[in-house]
Amino acid sequence: MHKKRFLTGDRPTGPLHLGHYFGSLQNRVNLQNEGCEGFVIIADYQVITDRLETESIEKNILELTRDYLSVGIDPAQSTIFVQSKIPQIPELTVLFSMLVTIPQLERNPTIKEEVKAMGLKDKMSLGMLSYPVSQAADILLFAPDFIPVGIDQAPHIELTREIASRFNRQFASVFKVPEIMLSPQSRLLGLDGFQKMSKSRGNAVFLSDAPDVIREKLKKATTDSEPEIYFDEEKRPVVSNLLTLFSLTSQRTVDDLVQEFRTVGFKTFKEALGESIIEFLQPIQARRHDLSDKAIKKVIIEGTEKARAEAELLMQKAREAMHMGYTGIF
Ligand code: TRP
Repeated sequence: MHKKRFLTGDRPTGPLHLGHYFGSLQNRVNLQNEGCEGFVIIADYQVITDRLETESIEKNILELTRDYLSVGIDPAQSTIFVQSKIPQIPELTVLFSMLVTIPQLERNPTIKEEVKAMGLKDKMSLGMLSYPVSQAADILLFAPDFIPVGIDQAPHIELTREIASRFNRQFASVFKVPEIMLSPQSRLLGLDGFQKMSKSRGNAVFLSDAPDVIREKLKKATTDSEPEIYFDEEKRPVVSNLLTLFSLTSQRTVDDLVQEFRTVGFKTFKEALGESIIEFLQPIQARRHDLSDKAIKKVIIEGTEKARAEAELLMQKAREAMHMGYTGIF
């Protein structure tokens, strides 16, 4: 039977944290363990859509791959590859850019959010406006069955589907129209308790944080002024978030945790949570420790080569469908 294929990816902007783990990485590993074939794109071109600091991209590509492998993404089942090293992606992006209108791109709510967040308003680059078109090429060149992503990516996947259908109707049926697979809305906030866990907000626990770093972070984690510890997302979002984090890392139910910790006070509770996180990350960090730079580079090189060969197959079909292979000349 044909193995189902998924494709997803990340921007190489820094180390991954627990929010990434419970929001998407865990799901990828599960899919892989259920026998799906994975394609994981490291979207380096997307990094420069909203910033032009490029010095650390290469290092981040290596570290992102290290994070992937340490959480259990297995290169024998999932192809990890670098976007900018697949020349078929920009080639197909050019062709796809004829199939979308500028107003269609300007309506994209995720782009609007990003522009707002970065204060870009009148300074939005063409690359920023059009990266969802390039993302369609990232996806469609590999004919995946589904795309596991968070809700923020939904407009991009919808555009991808529209582009695929439009191409298929206009020229020939070349592209598989993929389904979105929404990750369960991750409710994980950062240790400040107010915002999503994120590197830029300084409220994250990274997968690579050493035990002492984690202990320090937990000491400083925000709590609230009510002494008892119990779960109430509405009234006590900060404490409820810590309980969620505890539950996720210990595989114990929130009820069970509340039973044990209701009256112990925040200091003891946060110490226990810290130990739970440390223990949870232990096997991940052990694997990380065993990964040499050489091994990581090998995974990236081989994955990228495999992805390139795969992409060329569909690219050829796309050129042919558009009568732009020019095999009569070249
Ligand atoms: N836009 C995604 C993000 O910011 C990254 C990405 C690039 C992606 N290409 C993709 C995700 C293809 C899924 C499929 O996280």
